[in-house]
Amino acid sequence: MLSFQELSAQFNQQFDTQHFPATPNTLYAPGEYFLTIGGKRIRPVMCMMGNELFSDIHPDAFVVARAIELFHNFTLVHDDMMDEANLRRGMPTVHTKYDSNTALLVGDVMLIRAYEFLQNVQPSYLPKILKIFNKTAREVCEGQQLDMDFSKMEQVNMEQYIHMITLKTSVLLAASLEIGAIIGGASENNCHHLYEFGKKVGIAFQIQDDYLDAYGDAAIFGKEPGGDIKQNKKTFLLLHALSVANKEQSVALELLLKNDDAQKVDKVLAIFNECGVGAWAENLKAKYLQEAFDHLESIAVVSARKQPLIDLANYLMSRNK
Ligand code: IPE
Ligand code: IPE
Ligand code: MG
Ligand code: MG
Ligand code: MG
Repeated sequence: MLSFQELSAQFNQQFDTQHFPATPNTLYAPGEYFLTIGGKRIRPVMCMMGNELFSDIHPDAFVVARAIELFHNFTLVHDDMMDEANLRRGMPTVHTKYDSNTALLVGDVMLIRAYEFLQNVQPSYLPKILKIFNKTAREVCEGQQLDMDFSKMEQVNMEQYIHMITLKTSVLLAASLEIGAIIGGASENNCHHLYEFGKKVGIAFQIQDDYLDAYGDAAIFGKEPGGDIKQNKKTFLLLHALSVANKEQSVALELLLKNDDAQKVDKVLAIFNECGVGAWAENLKAKYLQEAFDHLESIAVVSARKQPLIDLANYLMSRNK
């Protein structure tokens, strides 16, 4: 069984080439720019791990992994416009470096390129893979819309938050694993448990992302610190703080959400600290990680084959970028 590092080295070797034609350069150079500034590439590696859990890696797993990473990058380019984010992977976002019209089209063309890769996989499982891919792509859009809707709503509960992050983030991790498993010839029951494992890991992954958005070291995390706070994102940090805050803290938080304040990020962070959001994050991640491992247990392969997935889940929980 190959480790995350070994699989990502293999993937990167295939992926880090030119993705688009030369012209029009005004469209494709920004696309190449974004794809070369890196990223952790966890989703394509998950696709390969899903395959390797059941059998040797088939070349189709690389093809689908490419499609998945292109799809992911499409969502990021559009997400950065929606979130008015200027920095990603420590570099200017596409709409900042170029402009919004370009970023729209760069995202679109990445999505189309993803389908061009997908159309090349073996016909025996292509319909099955497309079905999962399309369902997932639609869910990501739904989750992204809920994320935007929630930032304008006053009342959002933890259940709604988990539902939203499941859609915008975790289903893509889950689908990456499941599609890999299908290529690897897994049974339906094994596919189901692997998908659920990915979904729970994905929820914990977004919890960590939301935590790092507030508390991460910007030089490592590569995004503008406090971006979610500035955008009034209804992350678990804010929801938890609002639910345990005393009268004074909740009045202060509500004012900060409504009015412009040059010190907004620092002031909100101070209340987050008082409300113990850090400890709460640890518990929440541990809960979803446990649920993920329960599903992994139910997959009918020898446990040694599952080790890379266990390592990956643990790494994602404690990552700082
Ligand atoms: C960022 O995903 C978007 C989220 C769903 C949180 P990653 O953290 O995987 O981004 P890259 O690809 O490594 O930059
Ligand atoms: C993004 O969530 C999820 C998708 C891109 C679909 P975030 O908005 O939290 O992701 P980052 O923090 O910008 O990477
Ligand atoms: Mg964002
Ligand atoms: Mg977003
Ligand atoms: Mg984020």
